[in-house]
This record gives sequence, structure tokens and C-alpha cells, in this order.
Amino acid sequence: MKTTPDNSGDVRLSGISKTYGSFTAVHPLDLTVPEGSFFALLGASGCGKTTTLRMIAGLEEPTTGTVRLGDQDVTNLPPYKRPVNTVFQSYALFPHLDIFENVAFGLRRRGIKSVKKQVEDMLELVQLGEQARKRPHQLSGGQQQRVAVARALINHPRVLLLDEPLGALDLKLRRQMQLELKRIQTEVGITFVHVTHDQEEAMTMADTVAVMNGGRVEQLGSPADLYENPQSTFVANFLGTSNLIEAEVDTKNGDDIVLKAAGGKLVLPQARCSAPTTAGGRVLVGIRPEKISLTHADDAGRIPEGRNRLTGKIADASFIGVSTQYVIDSPVCDGLAVYVQNVERDGRLVPGADVVLHWSPAHTFGLDAAQRIDAGTEEEVAA
Ligand SMILES: Nc1ncnc2c1ncn2[C@@H]1O[C@H](COP(=O)(O)OP(=O)(O)OP(=O)(O)O)[C@@H](O)[C@H]1O
Ligand SMILES: [Mg+2]
Repeated sequence: MKTTPDNSGDVRLSGISKTYGSFTAVHPLDLTVPEGSFFALLGASGCGKTTTLRMIAGLEEPTTGTVRLGDQDVTNLPPYKRPVNTVFQSYALFPHLDIFENVAFGLRRRGIKSVKKQVEDMLELVQLGEQARKRPHQLSGGQQQRVAVARALINHPRVLLLDEPLGALDLKLRRQMQLELKRIQTEVGITFVHVTHDQEEAMTMADTVAVMNGGRVEQLGSPADLYENPQSTFVANFLGTSNLIEAEVDTKNGDDIVLKAAGGKLVLPQARCSAPTTAGGRVLVGIRPEKISLTHADDAGRIPEGRNRLTGKIADASFIGVSTQYVIDSPVCDGLAVYVQNVERDGRLVPGADVVLHWSPAHTFGLDAAQRIDAGTEEEVAA
């Protein structure tokens, strides 16, 4: 029984860091991965995901800190003595062995003679029972990756580490495999730690996501929590799209903060603001594109009271089937994104039209204005 909170979690990293010469790849990091959960490390290229994973596996020696798996401190154990297994992007199956023997490999190496039942069960789990006698090159990329997962799971590791395992697959297969991996994890109940730079992938699969940036964890939470309550501009921009509007604190009104932006007023619940809110201080007001409604300026009088509103002009509209994505220039900020579901389309909402953007104050979040407003955007990450 695990009684003290200190021993909770299947993987527990305490003050773990990695430096290469004068460069710090991972800053001292504390992280607890709950037992039996699907945990994702998400971040842009070079942020330290693989380094963190390799320290858990024992393939990289931490500069400081400890790694615990269950109640065992494994910091000084070599990789093969740790109850973990890793699946990499390049699945590196044995080309001369058939699928059955690839999966059986881990058992045979441990000297186990009767492998048939276990291998068959494992092939069943990854839905490759029919392919047992094929060689790796006769399978598709997604099938090969499932063999790699089966091979890694056959020894019943305590934790399965996955480093961009779907990186080599095309988008459609990737989506299928995301659901497939999630199903496998739920079925076997083993803790998965999955590394990816794809925010959609992390959100689809993981119970908990740790968003990494520059060798640090910026925020940790469930996908919905990260999306609805980002605590930094990096998280707001890296997970989906956010409109961030510079505003000035005007007054407080009960549990709300009233802000001024380009002459207009915006209301933000105090509880959804992670920035200091002294009068006259600056705050970035955030709102997700799908939370905003668009009304033609001629109908502005019909917008219900109590909603945040901004005026603007449609600069661009792209019809993408389920929704139309608008780009709107407003006195507060150019290039606001608004996504409107295609239910009843207002034919007047075309480029050049004057519109009012409005949304519920409850959907607004507030961030510290002392950060880069474009942190985590595609442009910023690529630079
Ligand atoms: N052996 C090494 N020597 C020096 N620097 C290294 C070494 N290994 C990694 N780094 C640096 O540490 C940083 C983190 O690398 P890491 O491989 O953990 O990134 P990552 O988040 O996995 O990126 P990617 O998404 O591109 O795989 C990078 O800047 C990388 O260049
Ligand atoms: Mg990596």
C-alpha cells in the first residue's frame, strides 16, 4: 500500500536536470506520473522531451535529481535493470525474424521456452494475429509500429516510454494509431509516458499533459484544463489558437475585473486571471476563436446584454466544411480569429463586412502582459 503522498505515482522525478557543458537541456524538474495513466510530454523541437524520457529509461545520466519508479529509486540502475521499455520513432524490428519471433524476442532472451500463448495474446491485443508469419517489410508502417508496441509490452514493464512513435506515419494512419494506442493502454493498464510535439496528438490520447518549453514544464493538467485555462502565452498559443488582446485594468466589480481596450470595456472573472490586476496595470485578455459569436453590425442591437463585445471588419473568410474561419481586424487588434459552426450561415458575413464580435465573460482568460504575446505560435516556434 502506498500511504504517504511522497510515494504516490508510478514515475516520480525529483529535481531532475540535464546539462551539456554550459547548455541546460532540462532545468530541475519535479514530475509525478500517476499509476496506470496515459501521460504526455508535449513541446516544440529541442525543449528537452527526449532527454527527460531517456533519464527515466536510464539511457541518460541526470546531472542532478532522482528517478523513482513505484517505490524504488532507480537513479543509479542501468537501463536493463529498470522495469521500463521504450518504443522509438524508428521501430527497428528485426528484419530477418517474422512478426511472431519479433514479439517473442524479449521472452526468449529471458530463457522462457513456452512463449506461444503469451505472444498470441499480445498479437491479439495489437490486432495482428493474422500477420504472425509475415516479415516486417511486408507490413504497413502502422502495423510495424504495433509490432514494436507488442514487443515492448511482452515483458510487462511497469512503464512504457514512447518517443514520437507515430512520427513517421502519414496523418490518417497517425490518427488511427492514436486511438489504437489509447485502446491498448486502457486494456493493459500500464503507465504510458508519450513524447510528442503534436498538440492534437497529446490532447487526443493523454489523461495528463505536461507542456514543456525551453527545458521547463510550463503547465501540467488534463487536455481540457490546459485548453480552457492556459496560464501562459506559450500554452495559450501552442495548444490550439488564442486571441490575445492587450488591455488595461480599469476597476473591479465583485468577482470580475473590468478592463479597457481601445476605448471599449471587457469583463474578465478574477478567478480566470493569472496576472496581477492593480488598477492601470496591463493584462492580456484571451479568448478562444470558437467561443466568439459574430453578428453583422446592422443587427448589433440584438446582442444580449452582459456579453463582451468588440467591433471589427472581416478581413478574410475560409469555408472549411464544419465551420467557417474568419480573420477580423478590430481597433483593439488586427487578425483576430473567429470560428463559426456552419449551422445557419449569414450571407452578409463576407470580407469587408462590419461586424460585432461578442462572447461570454466566463470564457475569457487573463494572462500576464510581461510575456511575449507570440510565444508558442507557429511563427515563434519555427524561428
Ligand atoms: N548529447 C548531447 N549533447 C549536447 N546537447 C544535447 C545532447 N542531447 C541533446 N542535446 C540538446 O538538448 C536539447 C534538448 O534535446 P531533446 O532531444 O531532449 O529535445 P526534444 O524535445 O526531444 O526535441 P525533438 O522534438 O526535436 O526530438 C536540444 O537543444 C539538444 O540539442
Ligand atoms: Mg526528441
